[in-house]
Amino acid sequence: MSELRYERLADEFAGLIADGVLRRGERLPSVRRLAEEKRVSVSTAVQALRQLELRGLVEARPQSGFFVRSRPPAAPPASPRTTADAPVVVDLNQRLIEVLHTNQRPGIVPLGAALPAAGLLPVGALHRRYASVARRHPQLLEGCSHTDINDPLLVRQLVKRSLAWGGPLEGTEIVVTNSCTESLSLCLRAVTRPGDTVAVESPAYYVMLQLLESLGLRALEIPCDPQTGLSVPALDLATRDDQVAVVLLVPNASNPLGSVMPDSAKRRLVELMAARRVPVIEDDIYGDLCFATQRPWPLKAFDTTGNVMLCASYSKSLSPSLRIGFVAAGKYQRAVALQKMLASGGTNPITQRVLAETLEAGSYERQVRGLRRHFQGQVEQMMGAVARHFPAGTRMATPQGGFVLWVELLEEVDTARLWQRAIAAGIAFVPGDLFSPSGLYRNCLRLNCGNPWSDAIDSAVQRLGGLIGQA
Ligand SMILES: Cc1ncc(COP(=O)(O)O)c(C=O)c1O
Repeated sequence: MSELRYERLADEFAGLIADGVLRRGERLPSVRRLAEEKRVSVSTAVQALRQLELRGLVEARPQSGFFVRSRPPAAPPASPRTTADAPVVVDLNQRLIEVLHTNQRPGIVPLGAALPAAGLLPVGALHRRYASVARRHPQLLEGCSHTDINDPLLVRQLVKRSLAWGGPLEGTEIVVTNSCTESLSLCLRAVTRPGDTVAVESPAYYVMLQLLESLGLRALEIPCDPQTGLSVPALDLATRDDQVAVVLLVPNASNPLGSVMPDSAKRRLVELMAARRVPVIEDDIYGDLCFATQRPWPLKAFDTTGNVMLCASYSKSLSPSLRIGFVAAGKYQRAVALQKMLASGGTNPITQRVLAETLEAGSYERQVRGLRRHFQGQVEQMMGAVARHFPAGTRMATPQGGFVLWVELLEEVDTARLWQRAIAAGIAFVPGDLFSPSGLYRNCLRLNCGNPWSDAIDSAVQRLGGLIGQA
């Protein structure tokens, strides 16, 4: 009941902000005043403010309270699309590979792949720790077990960290992997057969679509709201007739929208899928990189039946080159561990220990706090530049975490054609149709905001804005 009350209170304030009664930069009532005026408990008032923060509508300022968030004037959030109502065969790999390769050409302004700038990552500390672990633990290079594939020290750290977001995870449900991508692949292999249908977000992270294609799976696109993510009522409809084998989604700072699902929607999704016996695979790679003061909980935190497989890695927060991730696979642990053995027999023991010691040392929490601030600043700079340099009528999402920005151009713009011109001008981005197996979002694009703001990036956004009129 209290859950509904805080949602209602958050909705009330969201309405006041949308109607302009509460304006940009204006201070919201304090928690105590809100609790008194609305006759709710302090914790309900806190939860309502947190919800507004998660929706990107307000921001917390240290020691001052909550304020209506400033947004660039030309930035109303993009609207959800109606999606295909039948599953489709995925056929994107060829074009995706071409786009992703071309985007990496030397000298190109890197607004394509979602990669954090190397300078923001603790690369030096990782080098030192690698050398130290290899020196102190030579046994890690002597033989390996195909059955005990996890480093117990790493598992302990993963369980410990989960206490901060609704855990604890069970140590026995964890499978350490080579990346988040491997985690997703193992989970899909564990619970599907070729020809099955997977419910995915629309728009969806394109590597998820590539995985479906490679495994012969079909995609059913579920509409997503730019603020609140996957539509649970739409998923409810889609899973009524047993056609969906598994749900695959990014509930926290989705890629490309940057949306965060509210707790009530997460809880509802988890309960509904458990009742229908549809396994859930969640990708929480951006969970630590959400902008709200309190880290949003993953679906896993609401799971009481072991039906959710939580996948994550440290590619975005420590280094994409580490190639280390994990799955907390719940009741699918045995099936996922078997797939892991068949896929690669285990995960590099030295890298596992490097990560375990990095987490144990406590420096990760500080590092990730700094990164969150950087990414939030960079996303806001990008939003401002798009508002300044892109043509009138451009819309964009308001990311609540991560470091990509989803931009919607006027209906008639074809971003696949725009991409050709942008590459010729030395600027990368990812065209919108690659985020949909049925070719939606032809007038959208995704921009990477992982690099510190610079004149070169501002000028690239300006040149891109100029090319749009010609596409
Ligand atoms: C949602 C999402 N999941 C997974 C990945 C890839 O993670 P990893 O490098 O650990 O495979 C990315 C990278 O862009 C991503 O955006």
